[in-house]
Amino acid sequence: MSRKTPAVQITDPGLFGYDPIDPSRYTSPDFMAREWSHMWTKVWNMGPRIVDIPEPGDYVLHELGKESFVFVRGEDGEVRGFYNVCQHRGNRLCLGSELGSLKDFTCSFHGWKWHIDGSLKAIHDPHTFPQFENGRMPDLDLSTVRVGEWAGWIWFCMDLNGPSLQEFLGVLPEHLDPYEIQNMTLVDYKTYEWDCNWKVGCDAFNESYHFTTLHPQMTEWADDFAEIEIHGIHSRMIQEYATASKAHGDTEKIGPNLAYYMRNLLGIDPDAFAGKRPADVRLEVQRRARAVENDTHLPYKNLRDDQLSDDYHYTIFPNVSFNVMAASINGFRYRPHPTDPNKMLYDLLVLFNMPPGAPAADYEHRTITDRNVHYSKTLDIDMDPTIVEVLMQDKSTVGGVQAGLRSDGYKGMHLGTQELRVRHLHAMVDKYLGADL
Ligand code: FES
Ligand SMILES: [Fe+2]
Repeated sequence: MSRKTPAVQITDPGLFGYDPIDPSRYTSPDFMAREWSHMWTKVWNMGPRIVDIPEPGDYVLHELGKESFVFVRGEDGEVRGFYNVCQHRGNRLCLGSELGSLKDFTCSFHGWKWHIDGSLKAIHDPHTFPQFENGRMPDLDLSTVRVGEWAGWIWFCMDLNGPSLQEFLGVLPEHLDPYEIQNMTLVDYKTYEWDCNWKVGCDAFNESYHFTTLHPQMTEWADDFAEIEIHGIHSRMIQEYATASKAHGDTEKIGPNLAYYMRNLLGIDPDAFAGKRPADVRLEVQRRARAVENDTHLPYKNLRDDQLSDDYHYTIFPNVSFNVMAASINGFRYRPHPTDPNKMLYDLLVLFNMPPGAPAADYEHRTITDRNVHYSKTLDIDMDPTIVEVLMQDKSTVGGVQAGLRSDGYKGMHLGTQELRVRHLHAMVDKYLGADL
């Protein structure tokens, strides 16, 4: 594959104007209901990993808002998606384990059964349903969602008629396929309940304007002035990593945080860089990766030099952030709460491009309700404390922001040019919500 990822094309920061944003969109039950009816049910949503259901009969559950979905691989090898609801009295059809294997769907309440292709198999005591006799059988098959596959994920859309997954993704496959995400392994997946609207979570990761205040240590090893691009409903920002912030860091000396980052995350001895500048470290990361590109399973050959060192941060509309690095992704998915606009579910998804033959990841997907929990207490992988610290700092703001958005004293949200992607997300939400306003 050639190094085909398109070069950076910085977007006009005034593309969506500079008007303040009304905070009620984060707090209003009506707005939440419109997001559900006009947006969540229309977009393609990122669900589980395809590798979770390799064999016929394998299923995996996934929740979004008020809905639970079951994805199952059929006898014909096709992956299908159904609302996880029994057509008798509405019981959840699959209960308990999020992953498993089954021969048919059997409801635990009265025993109605469905084939794994979603067609009705059997009704218990059918003679007691006279209304179904003489050809008066209603449609009792399971309700379906459209299903697609990209980058190793199952994608699903509740709208049976809208754009295809490829149309929805736009430029994303062209940008991201060189990273070979389909070959990456999900090595940890945890869900945290947050006391904020899903958009507060998304906003928190959609800009790097906050780096110098919230993550001051990062000015030594990341450049907060990101290049921002809008690509239809999706967007990305590109942060130089393994170098100091040009505006707010010390660009002449390697500080202790960059030295730690070098030693523990990059495998570079900082002592060997005495007298060199932070920018030299970034170039060294690129040089080292390029030197081994013919001898590694990692997709270095597909990538430009800056992609070997930098964080390409994508927002896949509406609710996925991928920090895409050459060998890994720190991904976040922001799921709306079933009923409360002041709450959300934050999925932390860690993917590594593992060597061929590496053992399967051993993690347990759990939902953590303790708001004060430290990530290091819940993750099944050893995430470096530097990264955990940054993520904990991000998490520390969201409840306070949501409380402020509810305040009568708050006058509205003013966003600067570094927050263009925050504004873009709201503009794209409005685009969906405005469909029939
Ligand atoms: S609710 Fe499922 S069989 Fe009755
Ligand atoms: Fe942050």
